[in-house]
Amino acid sequence: MKQKLIVGNWKMNGSLAANAALLQALKQGLPAGGKAGVAVAAPAVYLAQLQVELSGSSIGIGAQDVSQHEQGAFTGEVSAAMLKEFGVRYALVGHSERRQYHGETDAVVAAKAQAALAKGVTPIVCVGETLQEREAGQTEAVVKRQLAAVIHQVGPCVSELVVAYEPVWAIGTGKTATPEQAQAVHAVLRAQLAAATEHAGRVPLLYGGSMNAANAAQLLAQNDIDGGLVGGASLKAADFLTIVAAAQ
Ligand code: PGA
Repeated sequence: MKQKLIVGNWKMNGSLAANAALLQALKQGLPAGGKAGVAVAAPAVYLAQLQVELSGSSIGIGAQDVSQHEQGAFTGEVSAAMLKEFGVRYALVGHSERRQYHGETDAVVAAKAQAALAKGVTPIVCVGETLQEREAGQTEAVVKRQLAAVIHQVGPCVSELVVAYEPVWAIGTGKTATPEQAQAVHAVLRAQLAAATEHAGRVPLLYGGSMNAANAAQLLAQNDIDGGLVGGASLKAADFLTIVAAAQ
């Protein structure tokens, strides 16, 4: 079986003390020789803490965003090169909360993915439809449009992406897509990647949206679901470890 990847998205949660306790519990609880890849995406200010706490551990460090710009007069932004200095392996780009609350367009998301790749940070490109779009039968068109912008921008580097399908209506709502619903969209994304690269099979396709300890195994059993992007459940060590165990 292909190696799965489980990424925790802490969102705007945590503190120095809470992070230290959570990371300690994760380090202790991860199975020795576990096969699944594991990473946590923390707020930017805590990346230095993660670099120290996770040194020598197999848990990868993720950022929740990255600037599309290399450097300069972009107040408040953090560049890919800066992330790299703190050992960051992954950066979420185009999370629906960034698209929704910060007006990130497909073009901006694509530029961010490109900026990350240029510095050796793997972008986790998030795509997903709103409830309204799903009900209007636009799910496939929306996710394809979102991914197409990135594929077009990164060209031959497409096989270096991670893609996360996160239906917006499932994020933080406790309403998970059924394994069949998720698989159907993942198959669409896989086909789209396959049209762009002969290495589509090695692009991890993560599912996100109320993945939890109870539903992870079923979701991860689907053919084209290669892992999870886990929000709420990644803040509780026991739940996150159960999800990781389901991915072994
Ligand atoms: P959730 O968030 O697991 O809390 O639904 C997932 C995400 O937004 O990445």
